[in-house]
Amino acid sequence: MTTHLPRRSFLGVSAATLAGTALGASAPRMPLRAGAPAVIASGNGLAAVREAMARMQAGADPVVAAVRGVQIVEDDPDDMSVGYGGLPNEDGVVQLDASVMHGPTHKAGAVACIENIKNPASVALEVMRRTDHVMLVGEGAKRFALDLGFKEENLLTERARRAWLRWRDNLNPGDDRLDDDQLVIPAEDADGQPIGLLHQQPGMHVEWINGVPYTTGTIHLGAVNASGDVGACTTTSGLSYKIPGRVGDSPIIGAGMYVDNAVGSAGATGRGEAVIQSCGSFLAVRKMEEGMTPEEACLFVLRHIADRTKRRDLLDANGRPNFNVTMYALRKDGMVGSACMLPGGSYAFATAHESGVKRAPSLFS
Ligand code: GLY
Repeated sequence: MTTHLPRRSFLGVSAATLAGTALGASAPRMPLRAGAPAVIASGNGLAAVREAMARMQAGADPVVAAVRGVQIVEDDPDDMSVGYGGLPNEDGVVQLDASVMHGPTHKAGAVACIENIKNPASVALEVMRRTDHVMLVGEGAKRFALDLGFKEENLLTERARRAWLRWRDNLNPGDDRLDDDQLVIPAEDADGQPIGLLHQQPGMHVEWINGVPYTTGTIHLGAVNASGDVGACTTTSGLSYKIPGRVGDSPIIGAGMYVDNAVGSAGATGRGEAVIQSCGSFLAVRKMEEGMTPEEACLFVLRHIADRTKRRDLLDANGRPNFNVTMYALRKDGMVGSACMLPGGSYAFATAHESGVKRAPSLFS
């Protein structure tokens, strides 16, 4: 039987109880001041960080600068992990997820499973800007975007369609669709090249299995301006060949992206399910608040995920996760850092004076 406490006594009990707990006591808070403007993104975001920095220098709000930066990658047909050209779900339909967060107002916006709209981060920005809600999904998100003048378009490029066909044809050796090794004449992509030679963008999380590209890739971008105001966004086509309707970490505030204007921002790319189950970006920001550097906070989250990965099929022979996650963090004072679970992650950065891509340290070798 459930006992319902009257509201007044509930508040009385919780206040007294919380006063004596670690939860109730205020955690030691590191006061962070504004520093130099800075931008961090996943390794596929070099052009994006440069664009975001240029926009901030011209006076744009960090969250708007972030969205305009990632739009370059959303529009790029060669990046098969984001926006136009992203790999589709198991039905061959591209479904996109994105989120944004604005530090000064602590307001967030997100869309999930949106179809036929190329720039989901821009739609998420409008959800934040124009509504009292945080997340719109599927058909509702699309109608919201169309009402605002976003264009409906086919996002499945010929390259992504062929990758999906190859995935589907090789799915089941017992079905009537011949696998690659059974074909009389080898399959070619649209350019007449073997499909396994598809161009891979630097920094894009793509794994090739029997010539089929798989991705959990994404772009995250966090930005802080000279006043110490922070904004961030994450946008993705999500896990390739996912079950229709699957939502990853990218549009979930606190998982694939989070901002606290007093501290900084964080974001994630890689296996979204693991990041959701650990509230990865929220955790990274809290750890920076407790005094960790951005890189330490990223490593903390990855360790947290690794320690809580229990499914055998997600572990290697040494009991370590066999999937990658890369975390990115930015502090209010302009310090940035990143780390990945397994080697191979990278991050793009920009300051007022320089930009580039760096290798992210990994938790496991
Ligand atoms: N991190 C992207 C996804 O899992 O959808």
